[in-house]
Amino acid sequence: MDNITKYLSRIVLFFFALFAVSFLLPGNSLALTNDECIECHSDEDLTTEKNGETVSLFMDIEIFKGTIHADNGCVSCHEEADVAGDEHPFPMSPVNCENCHDEIGEIYQNSAHGLSISDHNDKMAPRCKDCHTKHNILPPTNKEASTYPLNIPFTCGRCHREGTEMTKSHDLNQHNIIENYSMSIHGKGLFVDGLIVTAVCTSCHTAHNVQKASNPDSTVNRDNIVDTCNQCHVGIVDQFKLSVHGNPDSTTDKKRPICIDCHNSHTIAQVDRKDFRLIIADQCGNCHAHESETYLETYHGRASMLWGGEKTAKCSDCHGSHNIMPIKSEKSMINAVNIVETCAKCHPNANQSFTTYLTHATHNDREKYPYLFYTFWAMTGLLVGTFAFFGLHTILWVPRALIEKFKEITAKK
Ligand code: HEC
Ligand code: HEC
Ligand code: HEC
Ligand code: HEC
Ligand code: HEC
Ligand code: HEC
Ligand code: HEC
Ligand code: HEC
Ligand code: HEC
Ligand code: HEC
Ligand code: HEC
Repeated sequence: MDNITKYLSRIVLFFFALFAVSFLLPGNSLALTNDECIECHSDEDLTTEKNGETVSLFMDIEIFKGTIHADNGCVSCHEEADVAGDEHPFPMSPVNCENCHDEIGEIYQNSAHGLSISDHNDKMAPRCKDCHTKHNILPPTNKEASTYPLNIPFTCGRCHREGTEMTKSHDLNQHNIIENYSMSIHGKGLFVDGLIVTAVCTSCHTAHNVQKASNPDSTVNRDNIVDTCNQCHVGIVDQFKLSVHGNPDSTTDKKRPICIDCHNSHTIAQVDRKDFRLIIADQCGNCHAHESETYLETYHGRASMLWGGEKTAKCSDCHGSHNIMPIKSEKSMINAVNIVETCAKCHPNANQSFTTYLTHATHNDREKYPYLFYTFWAMTGLLVGTFAFFGLHTILWVPRALIEKFKEITAKK
């Protein structure tokens, strides 16, 4: 008998516990279901007042059904709506995506965008939903996603396009970014050829760790840019790291160039384009002012400024671009062992004597070009001397000529 009561009481306890647990479990039958939410929120006229503005509360369930979170309950994001009965509180706290995407959330919180919000409550900095949308979130591999490569420049451009409220109210270092990017080789590859492996904004800036260029951890900080381009331009970076400019073992304390000193970040052009070829000398000249000046005094340099000047030799045609070496290195394109071949690219008949043509010849450099220096001064001396002699001669001749003329006139009378 005792045993029967014991079993019965256990069964009662079990059912009681089951009943109690069913209340504690989320998503219990008394909470609002997705269908119930939709009953009210599929009404296109449902609106509310927020901060003095009328906001639509319409939710398009058909779009939502095709998204990555379709199997999530509405209340997995709108947690405060998870209540018994058919009324949820209002207003509710904003959705916190980081509850589930905590790793990305942490990176984002420390980005320039996240810090702009946490440090000075910047209303114009993007939250998750500004780049991903609210109810149309798709994996970045889906062509319709706001984060699909073809759409990324538009997603960032909503704020970063010149002339938006954001660009007008913030003090930014870069201007016309979207316009410049669209005209660059990367932008053209994307928009004209639909080349999705080309560089989009997030290839260089990342999606969630966007930082100011001045931040040493930024992917676009001077110290990190070579690695950033190296994601795709592996062959060039390998070559660059062996050159005089990129060699990691260099001990010079002078500023050495990185990719964007010769190819601007947002205006990167196709390198055989005329406009790119015509600015090479200026770009090298930013650091090698003397060589750039002397180059401009030579045939190639002067012809550069004429019509069709993009065809004459530019710094990189003789020195290389990513493989530049000091002249004494046998790898240098202008080292004695290679120079004939270098000139022969354009002068098919070039031989050793042709290459003695002085590329950076200047009369100002007595040590490097003594012949030019002394010849220049000898010729200049001769010229000045000649002019001085004949000048004096002419000046002395004038009174004499006048006197002769005067005599002539008086003699006639
Ligand atoms: C009985 C109708 C009804 C149901 C069911 C309902 N809502 Fe609402 N919801 C409203 C109304 C009305 C408002 C605006 C309240 C106001 O203006 O006071 C609102 C507002 C909201 C808001 C805006 C909150 C804010 O702070 O801006 C969200 C989000 C929301 N509902 C989500 C949900 C979700 C999720 C569900 C299901 C779990 C749900 N609603 C179920 C009627 C409903
Ligand atoms: C992946 C998360 C997520 C899910 C799932 C989700 N929402 Fe939302 N919802 C948001 C975000 C983000 C907002 C923008 C407001 C905010 O940040 O709180 C929002 C806003 C709303 C609003 C306010 C009107 C508006 O468009 O701003 C309503 C109403 C709403 N959701 C209803 C629903 C309903 C109904 C479901 C389920 C069918 C649902 N949501 C599922 C993320 C979600
Ligand atoms: C400035 C725009 C932007 C913001 C803000 C942003 N994202 Fe993203 N997110 C992207 C882009 C673009 C991608 C596509 C991947 C890429 O290009 O690197 C992406 C990819 C993702 C992915 C999938 C791929 C991956 O990296 O695992 C998840 C999940 C994601 N974001 C969640 C979030 C969450 C959560 C937040 C807020 C904490 C957020 N994102 C904020 C732009 C943004
Ligand atoms: C309740 C948890 C939860 C919340 C809240 C949530 N997500 Fe998700 N999210 C998921 C799950 C689960 C997946 C599917 C992961 C998978 O299939 O790899 C996902 C997938 C994604 C993806 C696609 C990831 C990929 O690799 O393709 C993106 C983008 C994304 N979420 C963004 C967001 C954004 C933005 C918010 C806030 C508006 C948000 N999520 C809120 C759980 C959540
Ligand atoms: C909703 C608007 C918005 C969107 C979308 C947006 N940004 Fe921003 N972005 C800002 C704001 C605001 C700042 C902070 C500017 C400041 O205070 O310096 C910022 C800062 C930056 C910075 C640092 C520059 C600086 O001066 O602080 C970079 C780089 C950047 N964004 C790149 C991107 C990229 C790449 C995307 C797309 C993946 C993107 N942004 C999407 C609004 C936006
Ligand atoms: C090929 C790589 C690359 C691409 C693609 C790219 N950027 Fe940049 N971006 C950079 C570099 C490198 C800088 C560093 C500044 C410089 O040029 O001096 C920069 C600077 C910026 C800045 C200013 C940051 C600061 O701290 O001053 C913003 C904002 C920005 N980019 C936004 C974008 C947007 C939006 C896109 C897409 C339309 C984009 N970028 C595409 C490489 C890139
Ligand atoms: C000192 C200036 C300079 C630096 C630094 C530089 N480049 Fe170049 N780059 C050039 C020139 C000049 C050309 C054109 C080469 C030619 O016409 O032979 C070029 C060509 C290119 C090309 C086209 C392919 C080719 O070789 O013709 C790519 C891609 C490229 N550079 C990427 C990079 C990357 C990535 C970096 C950083 C690791 C970088 N460049 C650093 C000057 C530079
Ligand atoms: C996500 C991959 C990716 C990244 C990152 C990237 N590029 Fe490119 N880049 C490409 C592709 C792909 C092309 C070819 C585009 C085309 O031909 O339409 C290209 C083209 C170029 C060209 C023109 C080449 C030519 O033949 O004229 C230059 C120069 C260049 N990139 C420089 C850079 C520099 C500098 C960086 C870093 C700041 C960089 N790229 C980052 C993928 C990338
Ligand atoms: C940002 C500055 C900068 C730019 C731009 C630059 N260089 Fe240099 N260059 C240097 C520095 C610094 C060195 C010395 C590196 C060392 O000794 O480690 C150097 C070395 C050289 C050398 C070897 C000379 C020697 O004395 O060892 C040649 C040749 C050269 N550069 C040519 C060029 C050409 C051609 C361009 C343009 C395509 C160019 N540089 C662009 C800074 C620059
Ligand atoms: C027609 C081929 C040619 C062109 C174009 C050319 N150079 Fe040179 N460069 C040479 C030769 C040959 C030398 C070695 C003899 C000399 O110094 O005149 C040299 C020497 C140099 C040196 C010293 C190298 C060393 O190792 O000491 C630098 C730096 C340099 N050039 C930079 C430039 C820059 C910058 C430009 C463009 C403004 C340029 N060069 C254009 C052929 C060229
Ligand atoms: C990228 C092509 C290119 C390279 C490389 C090049 N040149 Fe030239 N050079 C030209 C062009 C184009 C002209 C103008 C030819 C004309 O008008 O007939 C020219 C003209 C000249 C001239 C004057 C006109 C003449 O034909 O006598 C000399 C001298 C000369 N180059 C020397 C050199 C030397 C030396 C080198 C190697 C160190 C060199 N060039 C490398 C393209 C190049």
